[in-house]
Amino acid sequence: MNLKGRSFLTLKDFMPEEILYLLDLAAELKAKKKQGITGESLKGKNIALIFEKPSTRTRCAFTIGCIDEGAHPEYLGKDDIQLGHKESVEDTARVLGRMFDGIEFRGFKQETVEKLAKYSKVPVWNGLTDLYHPTQILADFLTIKEQFGYLKGIHLVFVGDGRNNMANSLMIGSAKLGLHFTILAPKELWPSKELCEQCEEYAKDSGAVITVTDDKNAVKGADVIYTDVWCSMGEEAKAAERIALLKPYQVNSKLMGMTEKEDTIFMHCLPAVKENEVTEEVFEKFADIVFDEAENRMHTIKAVMVATLGK
Ligand code: CP
Ligand code: NVA
Repeated sequence: MNLKGRSFLTLKDFMPEEILYLLDLAAELKAKKKQGITGESLKGKNIALIFEKPSTRTRCAFTIGCIDEGAHPEYLGKDDIQLGHKESVEDTARVLGRMFDGIEFRGFKQETVEKLAKYSKVPVWNGLTDLYHPTQILADFLTIKEQFGYLKGIHLVFVGDGRNNMANSLMIGSAKLGLHFTILAPKELWPSKELCEQCEEYAKDSGAVITVTDDKNAVKGADVIYTDVWCSMGEEAKAAERIALLKPYQVNSKLMGMTEKEDTIFMHCLPAVKENEVTEEVFEKFADIVFDEAENRMHTIKAVMVATLGK
């Protein structure tokens, strides 16, 4: 599998076998790291890490991933560079592309990360935009594989803001890899029709069943109940409205019980607002899995960099 020179902007751009390859590579890099073995695949490379929005996991994952493989990471926060203020994205991209070998971008518009890739001409990795969070899906799927041993046929239910970056990206990833994916959300927060139609197309090849519903009985038989914050970064002003809409969709022990399965797991991309989208009780019961998922951000992000830029 050769992904050299490719950007990682959305899972839409990747074939199922390419996504599976990244998951296998991440598992291999994880096993090596556990034995104290790191690599030199990115030796001599300089990596720009642009953050318009804050981050704990993604920033740390890219930083450690770079250092473990011999690269130099350079953090560029929103007030550190001119991007989008005094300089166009196109110009900043062309400058960074002359100096850096790869660029991570976290921010608002998907259009920005796409422009960065187009104009820098180096691999660009999406560390989250308003629309997508593709590296998170790799960590989530690696975690599901570790828990269940397989991905195809897993029933994954996302509960909450069904039109946010996580819901969108989980739907794309599931449709591509054949996980049965359900969005459980009030109608006001359903994903776009366009994205649903696109995922239905992917699902024709993978056998995935995609469901969007506001009926909580849809959690019956779920292997994984997944949730995310009710207000994503940049949407803080909507807090009251979202709480009113989503309170009935809190992941609590009653909802977990409605799966009628003993081995259903809970997952969360983090950061979590406990007692909003998930109760402390459910969160703590599944904390080991949730923090495996957080750790897996590092192994999967490292795999993306090694696959697209490594020697
Ligand atoms: N899950 C995730 O992307 O976390 P951060 O916002 O801390 O990077
Ligand atoms: N939907 C959340 C994900 C955080 C990792 C946000 O965009 O803030």
